Amino acid sequence: MVEIEILGRALTTIPADDDHPYRTGAWRPQQVERKADDLDVVGELPTDLDGVYLRNTENPLHPAMEVYHPFDGDAMVHVVGFRDGKAFYRNRFVRTDGFVAEQEAGRALWAGLAEDPAKSPTQTGWGARGRMKDASSTDVIVHNGVALTSFYQCGDLYRLNPTTLETLGKATWDGKFPSSVGVSAHPKIDEHTGELLFFNYGTDAPYMHYGVVDPDDNLVHYVDIPLPGPRLPHDMAFTENYTILNDMPLFWEPEALTVGKYAARFHPDIPARFAVIPRYGQTSDIRWFEAESTYVLHFVNAYEDGHEIVLDGYFQADPEPPAGNGTLYQRMFRFLDNDKLGPKLHRWRLDLQTGLTKEESLTDTVSEFGMLNGRHAGRRHRYSYSATSVPGWFLFNGIVKHDAETGREEKYSLEEGVFASETAMAPRIGAQGEDDGYLVTIVSDMNRDLSECLVFDARAIADGPVARVRLPERVSSGTHSTWAPGSDIPGWSTADDPASAVL
Ligand SMILES: [Fe+2]
Repeated sequence: MVEIEILGRALTTIPADDDHPYRTGAWRPQQVERKADDLDVVGELPTDLDGVYLRNTENPLHPAMEVYHPFDGDAMVHVVGFRDGKAFYRNRFVRTDGFVAEQEAGRALWAGLAEDPAKSPTQTGWGARGRMKDASSTDVIVHNGVALTSFYQCGDLYRLNPTTLETLGKATWDGKFPSSVGVSAHPKIDEHTGELLFFNYGTDAPYMHYGVVDPDDNLVHYVDIPLPGPRLPHDMAFTENYTILNDMPLFWEPEALTVGKYAARFHPDIPARFAVIPRYGQTSDIRWFEAESTYVLHFVNAYEDGHEIVLDGYFQADPEPPAGNGTLYQRMFRFLDNDKLGPKLHRWRLDLQTGLTKEESLTDTVSEFGMLNGRHAGRRHRYSYSATSVPGWFLFNGIVKHDAETGREEKYSLEEGVFASETAMAPRIGAQGEDDGYLVTIVSDMNRDLSECLVFDARAIADGPVARVRLPERVSSGTHSTWAPGSDIPGWSTADDPASAVL
């Protein structure tokens, strides 16, 4: 019998009869923090699976003032760690300033994404539009041996012990953290150099910045990326020598902005644009490439191929689906419905000699939230692993492995009522090839009211999981995850108990 220890319990004021579609079902939030070691496993955990799978979730504790958006929830991070054929688990809230203040107040203190910031009870705040709570609940990565959580509207980077999930404070970068704008979700790690690359955005010119943090956590580069106006970029990409930022024609209506309204609109008549800048380039070095109009939420990877930059991401067929006559929730959540947005894996080739862009769709499969072997980030890759979605919902119902060399796809569909998280790729210790490793994901099983962490052989995902690790509680759905090999975690390989490895 697995021993489950309760580490903490957060105050919640969400009513027991809550009926919000993204605070119930697979998105039911959690309040209790737990630890469990030597988890029960069905099948066999490979001994060359070594490291941690970290997953961030949006986990609300208080009703919104008026309308809750699922991206407003507080960050709860889950870790499933693997060493020596065993697995451990922890889940902890990130102790953000907003989480702490709202725990003390016992109510929401900031307007959420679907609410008017002017109605925020608090004058201060974070985020590209200001007066939001920095929930730090969007993304998680590991840099310099520390897990960093981030927020898609820009905010602090919260530092967590990657095995105990204890909040260690905020990234300060020796006093150089750009606190006035913050940092967006989706900072990138170049595993070959240990550098962290990031961007931020806001409503004040130049509207975007880009920076580099060295392997020792010093901000060593920070430049303006001037845009025509406030934009809503969500992701970035990089190659060995270049960073690729974007200016997508989906942005807050400028006229509405002047009266403090934040209404995002897509402009199909305006091209998508990519900014290519050398990793340590200046603003004057930026080269812009135009492409077919779309919105790209996530990129998979980029790499250099001769004088071209190859950029893979998800081209949305319809970035602003018609609102129709639906309910408020139906209108709001159409932007979370991949069945309506129609994102498909797409390849842009940015020709540094001619300045021209060539582009092509790589598949007819609608998918998003792609991951790859981190050793190939910024370098040539062949395989990506994406999520398929339940029509009408922000819920993942399967994994698709795409082979960019042959165009072949291999799929694994979860049973109805079982939903995956973003699936990370964990290279096997001593891996001999790009897909020589495992796929790791946490599923929320509504049929059996439980969660498991599934481990697949990345070379045979259609065969189903090779191991299923039972978790203590059903985990809420969420957005992003990451894999960090044990070799990236200080003290991991020598600790008697990797779950307590100290930094
Ligand atoms: Fe994202």
